[in-house]
Amino acid sequence: MCGIVGYIGGNQATPILLNGLEKLEYRGYDSAGVAVYHNNAVNVVKSKGRLKNLCDLLEQDQSVTGTLGIGHTRWATHGEPSDINSHPHSSEHGTFVVVHNGIIENYLYLRDYLIGEGKHFTSETDTEVIAQLLEYYYNGNILDTIIKILSKITGAYALGIICKDNPDTLYAIRKDSPLIVGLGKNENFIASDIPAIIDKTRNIYRLNDNEIALIKRDGVAVYNTAKEIITKNKVYIDWDITAAEKDGYKHFMLKEIMEQPKAVHNTISPRLINGQVVLDELKLSEQDLKKLNKIVIVACGSAYHVGVVAKYAIEKVVRIPVEIDIASEFRYRDPIIDEHVLVLVISQSGETADTLAALRESKKLGARVLSIVNVVGSSIANESDDVLYTWAGPEISVATTKAYSTQLSMVYMLVLYMADMLGTISKQEYQTYITDLEKLPVLIEKTISDTKSIQAVASKYFQYENIFFIGRNIDYALSLEGSLKLKEISYIHSEAYAAGELKHGSISLIEDGTLVVALATYEALFDKMMSNIKEVKARGATVLSLTTEDKIMIESETDEIFYIPKINSMMLPSLAVLPLQLFAYYIANHRDCDIDKPRNLAKSVTVE
Ligand code: F6R
Repeated sequence: MCGIVGYIGGNQATPILLNGLEKLEYRGYDSAGVAVYHNNAVNVVKSKGRLKNLCDLLEQDQSVTGTLGIGHTRWATHGEPSDINSHPHSSEHGTFVVVHNGIIENYLYLRDYLIGEGKHFTSETDTEVIAQLLEYYYNGNILDTIIKILSKITGAYALGIICKDNPDTLYAIRKDSPLIVGLGKNENFIASDIPAIIDKTRNIYRLNDNEIALIKRDGVAVYNTAKEIITKNKVYIDWDITAAEKDGYKHFMLKEIMEQPKAVHNTISPRLINGQVVLDELKLSEQDLKKLNKIVIVACGSAYHVGVVAKYAIEKVVRIPVEIDIASEFRYRDPIIDEHVLVLVISQSGETADTLAALRESKKLGARVLSIVNVVGSSIANESDDVLYTWAGPEISVATTKAYSTQLSMVYMLVLYMADMLGTISKQEYQTYITDLEKLPVLIEKTISDTKSIQAVASKYFQYENIFFIGRNIDYALSLEGSLKLKEISYIHSEAYAAGELKHGSISLIEDGTLVVALATYEALFDKMMSNIKEVKARGATVLSLTTEDKIMIESETDEIFYIPKINSMMLPSLAVLPLQLFAYYIANHRDCDIDKPRNLAKSVTVE
């Protein structure tokens, strides 16, 4: 999604803005721009396409010098990717210049109103309305004007604003879209995400909804919309800076795949104490659990796929009924939710707009919300009743890998915690699960240690244009993730089906040479999967199977095979997903795709 960076201080703003925007490239974008205050004017340079285009323009244009500036990478929503629609946007007479993440929902109404008042618009964007509104209502007091326009706009926004009448201040505001203020020495920053400024400062303020920051070179004042000063707590970011670097890997995705043993270890080990899952951060008591009549899981994309695994695991081990929904569907389906429902929200970024809206809807209806989140202090974490943080570290690749794996391990711990409390599991079963949980990081390490066979298979099939994934039970949940991983980074058309459902229509797509990835790790349904493999083979499919290392009998039925170590069935997805991630990665690499920044995609989808 779009990225924002801003600077005020004693150094030239442009190189700092470009450096920050480069760090935000991973979020996905289609155009970029900067605006810098210089000689009583705010000069804007922007361009469609990669940052390189912007850098080339800036090299020719020496007017973009100065020590106050804002920059933006745009992911188009309103208006096609073009030079004109790129941010920053200026008001008609150049009094205000704005960068914006989010969507102004009532922009058409406001635009018509302003046109009626004689304003001329140059772009098709919702953002330009903000710059024009600021100029329209400007009465010489910038803070008052900002507060005034906030009462006029609806939607989600993180905004960086420069006014040509005040070269000493950078203005920042947020609602439902993340924005931080970076605190330096005689210089300060704004950014939509930490990597943009972490090489400049580790001290930040996280802005909350409807907070307005007035940022000067030597200080920051934060106000609410009643013009009262807010006291902010300084947060120190203790990320390892190499987390945001490729560290010798060709892509962040491969680096993050290889970081999974560590990420899972970091998530599990602080919560495994003397053979017991200890979730100190959870306020959910035994009484709270006993009064639940269902758990509803909401999430998007890969986080939703973790939820599908969680449904199987919770129902099997904890025996509480589970519903699962895609957040964008849940929020508009009038769900039956009350105080007897626990809503489990799963999100890496903690900022996904639909997931956040589903959370708010659930709370409105009286449910308790427990979230599994990676980004500390994110909106979803802040608004949940309970938060379980995954410790995946920053995930840069748009396609998630290590966050998915840490979410899975958090789910297992939650399952064991609830089952133990409700007595739905014997002491012996509990201990077996704990022993496996302790071994999980080492087994993950083992599974990813040899990538040669996966590379060899990828090099045989990378030119295919249709690949199907099938599985049953948790293998079906995995099929969804394997298929998504492949299509999002390689652009190969791929579908995932519950294997038993194939005969009800989709099997008509299978023909000579169609590649079917058959997931057969779930022991209880292994024989059923063998039958499904035979069915697709009989129709000409080439089959790539994924199973546990004890199931060598599959070899006679399949063309290619990936083995994973054996573990209890609940935790199998943590191992089985690894060859699928690597398969997608090597296929996309063969196809020369932009793996870390696939076309049209964005990390952290902060708009609906
Ligand atoms: C796919 C992927 C997305 C995210 C989804 C939810 O590889 O990364 O499908 O899983 O956009 O994002 P979060 O977890 O940040 O809510």
